Amino acid sequence: MADNTEGRVPTVIADDVHIVYRVNAGGGGKGSATAALSKIIRRKGDAPGVRRVHAVRGVSFTAYRGEAIGLIGSNGSGKSTLLRAIAGLLPCESGKVYTDGQPSLLGVNAALMNDLTGERNVMLGGLAMGMSREQIRERYQDIVDFSGINEKGDFISLPMRTYSSGMAARLRFSIAAAKDHDVLMIDEALATGDRKFQIRSEERIRELRKKAGTVFLVSHSNSSIRDTCDRVLWLEKGELLMDGPTEEVVSAYEKETGGH
Ligand SMILES: Nc1ncnc2c1ncn2[C@@H]1O[C@H](COP(=O)(O)OP(=O)(O)OP(=O)(O)O)[C@@H](O)[C@H]1O
Ligand SMILES: [Mg+2]
Repeated sequence: MADNTEGRVPTVIADDVHIVYRVNAGGGGKGSATAALSKIIRRKGDAPGVRRVHAVRGVSFTAYRGEAIGLIGSNGSGKSTLLRAIAGLLPCESGKVYTDGQPSLLGVNAALMNDLTGERNVMLGGLAMGMSREQIRERYQDIVDFSGINEKGDFISLPMRTYSSGMAARLRFSIAAAKDHDVLMIDEALATGDRKFQIRSEERIRELRKKAGTVFLVSHSNSSIRDTCDRVLWLEKGELLMDGPTEEVVSAYEKETGGH
């Protein structure tokens, strides 16, 4: 890495990041087998009944401006957790994340309000990303057009709970993609859209990259990763197994997972 990093601007630096969830597991009644077990498992210093999940273990990397970085790995390997930590939504148990600017996390679970109309959610989502009302009004039509929500009728004035999961995911992506981000993180948002929308959003990711941001994309679709990313981090059991050019890492991953 050291050879071609000169003159490049780092946007995210993860330095030996560890993330631990603490879960109140109940533990059952006094004297029960589960209580005895949780007593054995639990570490000193944690309250009784609290289980620790060590989700990210010693991850280090530097992301540069203009890079699109894919995050791959099996279910539960720590991808979403790592993104949440980069976004500042989760504290590190040890190690540190340094970021340039405010990273925005766009997930399938981004907090839009189901009882509000799509229109109101565009407004709220824009405000939450730090856009002014004026900026949102200017871009409103673009956001709606990009989402394609209104292609089959006037859905944007209906509550979001009337949308299919793919429609909701498209609107979330469109809201987040309306702003130029320093660091944009996308957690599987593309997977639920149909093929046409996937192609459109991949184009938008490439555009965002050109505007000198850094994009992180979590996906189980190796073809989406191949089409959008030039570098890939492979996580497994919370550890960074591989970090390198897309083709190298994805083919190693496919070999491991049986290739598909
Ligand atoms: N809120 C939480 N509380 C406790 N443990 C959690 C929480 N969220 C995730 N975990 C645990 O942390 C580990 C990593 O989960 P994470 O969601 O980061 O995986 P992932 O790589 O995003 O998986 P997927 O591909 O299924 O989305 C898993 O063992 C999971 O059970
Ligand atoms: Mg996840």
